[in-house]
Amino acid sequence: MISADRIPNNVDLSGNKRLQRALEHWQPKYLQWWRDMGPQGFQDYHQVYVRTAVSVDPEGWAHFEYVKLPEYRWGIFLADPVKDRRIGFGDFMGKPVWQEVPGEFRNQLRRLIVTQGDTEPASVEQQRWLGQRCPSLYDLRNLFQVNVEEGRHLWAMVYLLHSYFGRDGRDEAEELLDRQSGNRDKPRILDAFNEPIDNWLDFFMFTMFTDRDGKSQLMSLSESSLDPLSRTTRFMLTEEAHHMFVGETGISRILERTCQLMRDAGFSEDVRRVGGIDLPTIQKHLNQWFSLSLDLHGGEVSSNAASYFANGLKGRAKEETFDDHLVRDAIYHMEFFENGRPVAKEVLMRNAMNEVLRDWYVGDCAAGVERWNRILERYGVSQRLRLPDRKFNRGIGMYSSFRFDPDGRPLTEEEWQRRKSEWLPTGKDSEYLLSIMASPVYERGKFANYIAPPRRGINQQPVDFEYVRTEQ
Ligand SMILES: [Fe+2]
Ligand SMILES: [Fe+2]
Repeated sequence: MISADRIPNNVDLSGNKRLQRALEHWQPKYLQWWRDMGPQGFQDYHQVYVRTAVSVDPEGWAHFEYVKLPEYRWGIFLADPVKDRRIGFGDFMGKPVWQEVPGEFRNQLRRLIVTQGDTEPASVEQQRWLGQRCPSLYDLRNLFQVNVEEGRHLWAMVYLLHSYFGRDGRDEAEELLDRQSGNRDKPRILDAFNEPIDNWLDFFMFTMFTDRDGKSQLMSLSESSLDPLSRTTRFMLTEEAHHMFVGETGISRILERTCQLMRDAGFSEDVRRVGGIDLPTIQKHLNQWFSLSLDLHGGEVSSNAASYFANGLKGRAKEETFDDHLVRDAIYHMEFFENGRPVAKEVLMRNAMNEVLRDWYVGDCAAGVERWNRILERYGVSQRLRLPDRKFNRGIGMYSSFRFDPDGRPLTEEEWQRRKSEWLPTGKDSEYLLSIMASPVYERGKFANYIAPPRRGINQQPVDFEYVRTEQ
């Protein structure tokens, strides 16, 4: 039964019978999906100390309690409306924002919402086995927090589909539960969401880099002229911040432990021999998830992106910080690759909107890598992590038909095949990672050997708090 208690919301669900019925019809399918495709082995006998949003004000959105995962209260929240909000960019700039979907943009908006929505359950599916290899109860709880919130983000998109897109929207909502990450016949829409995540190094890199793509997409959607989409995504961003915290601090803690192991061994020993994760392996996983996440921003030159911008459907991250919001004849200088060498060309800025967002994203990632490097510095380790060149290992866009090394130098196919195992994780690397994660750590306050404990616990609880408890 859908009620404000069961589905916390600020969209007057009980006052909208049609929507309520639609969601009541969808909810059992969602719960079935959560059981089948959500965290495996943690559905019935575990209580998890999670945060549940029960309202959008500062106190309400972080309400902590123990829940069984299938009983999590997935809510529907829009950030508070901005009074007299106007369209902030594109050809309709200055007009009042839309409270309904304009007929001529229906298909484009639906595609944007479905593409965003598809990533949310996909990541839950990718991560469903991780609980069985967790490095601590603290990390287990963080994994489940990310999972339930991705589930809530799916609810947010399904709310929009059901509310504003009629029959098509209802069909799309069903298909969001039908596609499956990595499934050969019905894969998830975007490639990075079909890659398996079976070890915690991948999980932390994913939440660092791929959830950060989520952040740039949500920031650009929060500029949208469709006000309900803007308000939904604005609230999602508050939760997304925690996902990136999990990724960034997860890698920080691995680095810290790696440095300790290196130091204890007099900086000479192979860290793997003492059960740690060596820096080259960390760098390879960084290369992998950064390049996959660059692809998520789409092709460099894109007429779709231009028309999303022109129509006010999707803006730039922090649109208000730009001077020119019309961008009629502004130019973007882009590096093309022709006849084996880079060529600078001018592109209409509107057609380069994917690249503009990617620029923002790369900057945000670079700042994170800087913070990681400070840990290496603190321990007197001379190696540094770095972002590979954006041409490296691309599957989408104009660089995808060529090969480059992490410095962006072109390679022949033969050189690439010979050397790619220096830059990207190999079967041996994942075998090693699985071997050190084979036995999960479920003991309070204990941490796997390859990762340092966090500085502090969640919601001011101690680090050795029982973040996940088991009923017998
Ligand atoms: Fe999300
Ligand atoms: Fe996320």
